Amino acid sequence: MANAREAALTKLPLELLWLISAHLTPADFACLAVGNRHLLNSFSTDAFSKFSSVRTGTPTDYERIELLSRISRDIPQYYPCFICLCLHLWRKIQLPSLYSPSINHNISPRDLDKCHLIFELPLASYPSYTHYGFYFVHLQLAMRRFYHGPEFGIPVESLLYTEVGANILEPNSLLIQRDVNNLSGNPQRGVMLTLFSAETRICSTPPGLCMRTQDIAVVARKNAAWIWAGRGYAIMRVCKHINTLNSDFYDILNSQIKRYCSTTDSKAHADQGKCDECNTSWQLEIRTLDESRTSLTLTRWMDLGPGLSTEDVEWKYRLDCVVSTPPRQEPVDSRSRFEKESIQSGFPDALSEEAMYRRNVALLRGNRFQRVMTPVRGGFYILRGDSNTKTDSPGCLIL
Ligand SMILES: *[C@@H]1O[C@H](CO)[C@@H](O)[C@H](O)[C@H]1NC(C)=O
Ligand SMILES: *[C@@H]1O[C@H](CO)[C@@H](O)[C@H](O)[C@H]1NC(C)=O
Ligand SMILES: [Zn+2]
Ligand SMILES: [Zn+2]
Repeated sequence: MANAREAALTKLPLELLWLISAHLTPADFACLAVGNRHLLNSFSTDAFSKFSSVRTGTPTDYERIELLSRISRDIPQYYPCFICLCLHLWRKIQLPSLYSPSINHNISPRDLDKCHLIFELPLASYPSYTHYGFYFVHLQLAMRRFYHGPEFGIPVESLLYTEVGANILEPNSLLIQRDVNNLSGNPQRGVMLTLFSAETRICSTPPGLCMRTQDIAVVARKNAAWIWAGRGYAIMRVCKHINTLNSDFYDILNSQIKRYCSTTDSKAHADQGKCDECNTSWQLEIRTLDESRTSLTLTRWMDLGPGLSTEDVEWKYRLDCVVSTPPRQEPVDSRSRFEKESIQSGFPDALSEEAMYRRNVALLRGNRFQRVMTPVRGGFYILRGDSNTKTDSPGCLIL
């Protein structure tokens, strides 16, 4: 069938094809032009004249991306790069980590006018200050795999990540990040273990990559009042719109700790909410972990959108450097999207919210993380999820 149709099209008189081409988008016209040698000879000059050869900051950039996307459908190992408008091998992209994606772009960052192209998702805040550097390309490649198939991008399982760190805790002072293996001095007093975990799932209606992150701080129960050490110095944040610089969230956190410290019952105290600007849902909870320890947990749920363009509102307006505000839309509940509507939420091994907390604190219990996680430079430990594309080095390249 396809061949018959193709043959019919190429048999049309050139005049007719010219008439048709006037109705085609630049990407469609370019694809027609590469249909066969005859068409290429006739159309090449005109078909490619609309495309810039470098980023220009004008709408021709989008036409170039559109063309690269079409071409890359036939060569799955390449993806169209929104930064330099070239095709790169996607397996060269490092999984989210301390280091930025290890690609040499054909453009200097100085020449980029749009910060949301190159900046990472702002996830680091009190208490974990995670090193999980999640960039647009991770979102793009996870969704690309969902749209087109396994050879096109990163499986969500490989975005699963856990990190454990430690801090020396002093009331009302800056946190001092320390090597987890060297917490010399009195081991209980004045130490705060922190854990960050991230997990992504894919939602299909409408398509979007949903992320759940959890930040946990664990201190000795007698130091519970210090668990928000660094108040006045540090920022705990849900998103760029809700954080402890913003008085509501500051008050919620302070009153939760006060409530916890003033009662002897060890029941959990939780608050939750949602940001109407960027659809981030959150839950803040203080709990007695065991007879001697207390945990403070901030869980966040985000819908990072369809990953089709860096201009997607779900991506762009989350970044701190973007000062404009998104168009007003009906807000969405990112928490239920992740927990109930995602494809992975139906899987038998899907971790519920509570199971995730249990899994995370089990890593801290008896310093189990020192046995099951990988130590990395800087004195912290990380653990990545399984993936179909096995990583064979702690450098975490997808090979
Ligand atoms: C442990 O940390 C202390 C204080 O930062 C430092 O002086 C000491 O050299 C460290 N010990 C080791 C074995 O790294
Ligand atoms: C919030 O969610 C709604 C519904 O999915 C969507 O239309 C809107 O663009 C989202 N806003 C942002 C800033 O992500
Ligand atoms: Zn590039
Ligand atoms: Zn927000």
